[in-house]
Parts: sequence; C-alpha cells; structure tokens
Amino acid sequence: MKRLTNKTAIVTGAAGGIGAATAKLFVEEGANVLATDRHISILEDWVNPLKKTGAAIEALEHDVADVSQWEKVINTALKKFNHINILVNNAGIFPGFVNCEETSLGVWNNVIATNLTGPFLGCQACIPHMRINGGGAIINIASIAGLVGGNGVAYSASKGGLRLLSKDLAVTLAKDKIRVNTICPGAVLTPMTAELVSKTITEDIIKNGSPQGRMASAQEIAWGVLYLASDESSFVTGTDLVIDGGAVAR
Ligand SMILES: NC(=O)c1ccc[n+]([C@@H]2O[C@H](COP(=O)([O-])OP(=O)(O)OC[C@H]3O[C@@H](n4cnc5c(N)ncnc54)[C@H](O)[C@@H]3O)[C@@H](O)[C@H]2O)c1
Repeated sequence: MKRLTNKTAIVTGAAGGIGAATAKLFVEEGANVLATDRHISILEDWVNPLKKTGAAIEALEHDVADVSQWEKVINTALKKFNHINILVNNAGIFPGFVNCEETSLGVWNNVIATNLTGPFLGCQACIPHMRINGGGAIINIASIAGLVGGNGVAYSASKGGLRLLSKDLAVTLAKDKIRVNTICPGAVLTPMTAELVSKTITEDIIKNGSPQGRMASAQEIAWGVLYLASDESSFVTGTDLVIDGGAVAR
C-alpha cells in the first residue's frame, strides 16, 4: 500500500523546487494532487506530461496572497477529487539577505503577504473541509531563518510567524484530528537559490553554514513533507522538522 492512497493534497508554489519535488513524490505515493502556482506555464510544463500518463494531478494558476483565489482552489480540488486531506503551504519568496534599514515597506508587505498571509488563508480555506473528512494534515514550509536571525528581516519574521501560526493551529485543531507541522529547511538548491549561489559570497555563506558543507536537494526536503503528510506521523503535531544538514546545531 502506498503511503498517501485515497488522500487528496493541495501543494502551493509547485512550479519548481521543493513544491514540484513534493507534488511528484505525493503522486508516486498514491495521492491525488492539486498543484498550484502563480507561474502557470512553468507548472504546466511538468504537470501536463505527468497527467497524460494517467497520474491524478491537476495544475491551477493561483496567487496564495489573494483571498479570492483560494475559493477557486477549494472548488477545483473538490470537483476533481471530492475531498481535501493535505495542504502543503510551500509558495514563498526570498528577497535576499537584507537587514531592517535596507528593507522598504513594499518589500516587507510583499514578503509577509506571500510567506505568512498566504498560508493563513490556505489554512482558513481548507480546515472546514478537513474537519468534514474527520481530519487532515497541514505542512507549512518555514525555514531555519524562522529559527535563527541573520537571514533577512522580512524573511525571518515571515518564517518565524509561520512556525507559531502552525503551533497555534496544532493546539486548537487537535480535537478535529487535524495535524499542523512545519518543515524548516536549511539551504536547498532550487530556482529560489540558483541565482544567489552564482554569487561567490553567497555560495560561501550557504555552504559554510552547514556542517555537511553542501546544500540540500529539493527531494531531501520532500521526503520530510511526505512523512508529515502520511499517517506514519499520526502523533506528530505542532513540531518543526529541521532539515538543514546540521546548520542550526552549531
Ligand atoms: N531554497 C531554500 O534554500 C529554502 C530554504 C528554506 C525554506 N525555503 C522555502 O521553501 C519554499 C519553496 O521554495 P523553493 O526553494 O522551492 O523556491 P522556488 O522559488 O523554486 O519555489 C517557490 C515557488 O513559489 C511560487 N510563488 C511565489 N509567490 C507566490 C504566490 N504569491 N502565489 C503562488 N505561488 C507563488 C513561485 O512561483 C515558485 O514556483 C518557500 O516557502 C521557501 O521560502 C527554501
């Protein structure tokens, strides 16, 4: 038996990187997947060929920070797959290692809207449908930047806020059998970081930040998301799964 058989998952920010790796792994493990992203053509580039093989996956254009668009996401998931069991709030932006004085209000608002308000809206939209099903699993993709400082003020604040949003939901939704956890990745090689690592100074910061001396692959993060989405983690809620090659152990 596959690990997500009969489960329907919504994965945001799935055009590439961690979201795409997670959505593909979920399909392999038997889930129905609604993959969303604001960049629909990049998303469809990999979803449509997979769908043609018979996989239970749909691509949908979606801005996580726009409250009105979540209704479309829920309606599509219910129409295609009948129920919603898993939400992976993965979409996020990283504006760079910018400190407080260098951060404009516009950048701050955009980072908070995408990285914190987006997951909040996703939880609000999905919780009633998970409750109807008798439970569910929400996995919020935070960051070690939400555990320790020095990674940019807006980004750290958004990811730290996401960790506590998750813990609050874990406590208040336990009675509904809805589990809520975060993944806190260290540096992962994805489209988000590809441009940064081409700059030598950033490459040094990233590689020297981990005792393993390397970045993670998106797949290494997706394995953790799968664990938190599956029934194997049935007693795990309100926790942060740190996947960082030992970076915050220093
Ligand atoms: N790459 C890393 O080193 C790293 C480390 C820690 C945490 N994270 C987090 O992991 C998550 C995935 O990042 P990634 O590295 O795969 O980056 P990525 O840039 O490859 O993927 C992020 C995706 O989110 C989408 N997106 C951005 N804003 C959106 C919006 N408003 N609505 C819908 N989609 C939107 C982008 O189009 C993109 O496809 C993010 O939340 C990121 O903060 C990444």
